[in-house]
Amino acid sequence: MIPRPSPPHTRRRTPFPTQSDTRMAATDLLFRPFDLGPLHMPNRIVMAPMTRSFSPGGVPTAQVAAYYRRRAEGGVGLIVSEGTGINRPASLNDPNVPRFWGTEELAAWKHVIDEVHAAGGLMAPQLWHVGSARNTQTDWKAPGPVDSPSGLSSPGKQFAEPMTDAAVADTIAAFGQAAADAKLLGFDAVELHGAHGYLIDQFFWAGTNQRTDRWGGSTLPERTRFAVEILKAVRAAVGPGYPVIIRLSQWKQQDFKARLAETPAEMAAWLEPMAAAGADIFHCSQRRFWEPEFDGSDLNFAGWAGKLTGRPTITVGSVGLSGEFVAAFRGEGSEPASLDGLIERMARDEFDLVAVGRALLQDPDWVEKIRTGRNEDLMNFGREALATLY
Ligand SMILES: Cc1cc2nc3c(=O)[nH]c(=O)nc-3n(C[C@H](O)[C@H](O)[C@H](O)COP(=O)(O)O)c2cc1C
Repeated sequence: MIPRPSPPHTRRRTPFPTQSDTRMAATDLLFRPFDLGPLHMPNRIVMAPMTRSFSPGGVPTAQVAAYYRRRAEGGVGLIVSEGTGINRPASLNDPNVPRFWGTEELAAWKHVIDEVHAAGGLMAPQLWHVGSARNTQTDWKAPGPVDSPSGLSSPGKQFAEPMTDAAVADTIAAFGQAAADAKLLGFDAVELHGAHGYLIDQFFWAGTNQRTDRWGGSTLPERTRFAVEILKAVRAAVGPGYPVIIRLSQWKQQDFKARLAETPAEMAAWLEPMAAAGADIFHCSQRRFWEPEFDGSDLNFAGWAGKLTGRPTITVGSVGLSGEFVAAFRGEGSEPASLDGLIERMARDEFDLVAVGRALLQDPDWVEKIRTGRNEDLMNFGREALATLY
């Protein structure tokens, strides 16, 4: 039994608007079940993937398992793990981020999923390759060459050699193997990290993909081939019916204003091949979920992704909190915020699922507090929560 550390939480200082009848109904919308093949979620709330760097040597500890178990006990519908590295020498740029390969690592993940299941939860690992993204927090160097489409860490910044064809093939295979292992260990779904300027996104983005072979090209569909081949490998590895989620973003950590698709037609040309290749759910990462994706419509990224592909979508970005997450890394605190806007969009079927990051990092009981209307018990988010694994 792992001792339960006391929470680092700060309590909410300022009240947000009082709960109205609409909010009561709204909360109910979040607590409808969601089914996708073998995945039966009791509610619409997903724990967003959050790197915690608490896995020394890449092996998730018992504390990591307890951290996820607490969120399962707290009623999260589906937990997406922190990004976890696939079997490539430089898939990670932090020695304390968990790997998703190796005997010891996979045994530790088995313990994680068993704990989550024992508490009645569901979980997907987020399979990750950071590509040429830099980590300014550590001098640690990965034991192998950087994988990236053109060796650029951001536009114009040459950092390494472009991937060889063999490296591309091995990387695709490594994603497939990780997905097979996830299924074997008993995870309920897998998520591919295709967002935020990491490897898969480096292929999407013209700013970091200047290849002229079959993995590059001047159009977004050409630069999507890498993701499509990964999805095909994953689908082949897990078979039909097993839920495969892909997380995408227009924004990049290298450039928050970057955009891959400027129009709905471009977005359709980007997403449709991925849906055809085996993506069941699009996890549409925004920093603020309420921001419209294109002029002339209120729909957010998830709204458009669902409309264009017919696939279920997950929205994310500042749900239940006043400030967004990048500012949180700089130390800006956030206070609880009303869910009314989110619920209004959900009532219009703009998206199917809602991912919640910091509110759940701060408070494992966030879901239950929302369900039971305990707004006065909701907590502020403070940067100090990043330093603990409660
Ligand atoms: C500490 C921390 C670590 C994160 N790590 C990841 C990650 O590993 N993979 C990922 O796709 N997003 C990651 N994110 C982004 C979150 O999944 C989420 O999109 C973001 O925090 C916005 O949601 P929120 O406003 O509810 O926090 C991270 C965010 C935080 C705060």
